[in-house]
Amino acid sequence: MKVIVVTEPGGPEVLRVQEKPIPSPAANQVLVRVHAAGVNRPDVFLRKGKYGGAPTQPGMVLGLEIAGEVVEVGAEVTRWQPNDAVCALVAEGGYAEYAVVDARHCLPVPAGWSFEEAASLPETVFTVWHNVFQKGQLTSGENFLVHGGSSGIGITAIQLAVALGAKVFSTAGGDEKCRACEELGATRCINYKTQDFEAELKGEGVDVILDMIGGDYIAKNIRLLRPDGRLEFINAMQGPTADINVLDIMARRLTISGSTLRPRSADFKAELAADIEKQVWPLLAAGKFKPMIYKVFPLSEAAEAHHLMESSAHIGKIMLRIE
Ligand SMILES: NC(=O)c1ccc[n+]([C@@H]2O[C@H](COP(=O)([O-])OP(=O)(O)OC[C@H]3O[C@@H](n4cnc5c(N)ncnc54)[C@H](OP(=O)(O)O)[C@@H]3O)[C@@H](O)[C@H]2O)c1
Repeated sequence: MKVIVVTEPGGPEVLRVQEKPIPSPAANQVLVRVHAAGVNRPDVFLRKGKYGGAPTQPGMVLGLEIAGEVVEVGAEVTRWQPNDAVCALVAEGGYAEYAVVDARHCLPVPAGWSFEEAASLPETVFTVWHNVFQKGQLTSGENFLVHGGSSGIGITAIQLAVALGAKVFSTAGGDEKCRACEELGATRCINYKTQDFEAELKGEGVDVILDMIGGDYIAKNIRLLRPDGRLEFINAMQGPTADINVLDIMARRLTISGSTLRPRSADFKAELAADIEKQVWPLLAAGKFKPMIYKVFPLSEAAEAHHLMESSAHIGKIMLRIE
């Protein structure tokens, strides 16, 4: 089968097509013939050499989310049969014609969704559901702020938060990106290149913030939170350290937390998948969450897909199609 490997840590040009044997599913796994895979910012960090753990080994196959059809099931798998259409979270190996997946990390392709649309879901939905709703406990009627609103994570967070009754604010790096966030249901998106989000949202206050930016956003986020507010980090692209006032945290009883999905245990991801199927899949069926795909590349053009992601020109998801 054809796969895309990281030949060595570096720029998009280190991504190359290689031939590898088709893997066999273990007893708890299914073998999926992959039709589409999502490109996520963590893939870029992995390609560069390191993301949330051990350095990337040369020959690693990137790819954290896929959709396709089941072609073989392991001896212990009862839920899935050959020909079932699934999308799945994988820790690596998604940029490939076939992938083996823990059967519990698969979800059915929502009715009426293409493989490309379904493959755009797992990484961002799992991340957002866990951080915003399970940990952050965002509830209907609360104010929610997501930075990078036009990112894959951002479009997911906006839509889920709106669907579940929150008032949503976001930041993004351009007027067109802001318009896209507002079309998805955000009450207001702030173009951080021309406006200061803290000054703009001071009058509102925020109950839950999902931050991937860090740096000088850290102290601003803390100042914006209402009493009992929650700040969840999923990255710190502008830097992980900050000068913060602990008395603010005490006075308003704030909770600051964060997490990284990829290194979590298979059991954790299975429980998360089950909760998502119960809570999020009905929202997809009800049309309360739309796929938002910016561009689809053939598998052999994974390097171009990475170039696009690093340009930050995209709004929504970048996908790979596997013919
Ligand atoms: N912890 C986890 O488990 C986990 C899982 C998945 C993803 N993530 C993280 O989530 C983030 C988004 O991932 P993705 O795959 O959705 O990538 P993506 O689509 O490339 O998103 C990155 C976004 O950050 C925005 N951005 C950059 N600087 C900004 C700033 N100063 N203020 C506001 N927005 C800014 C970019 O838009 P502009 O260029 O227009 O600003 C872009 O929309 C990444 O940092 C990724 O590592 C974490």
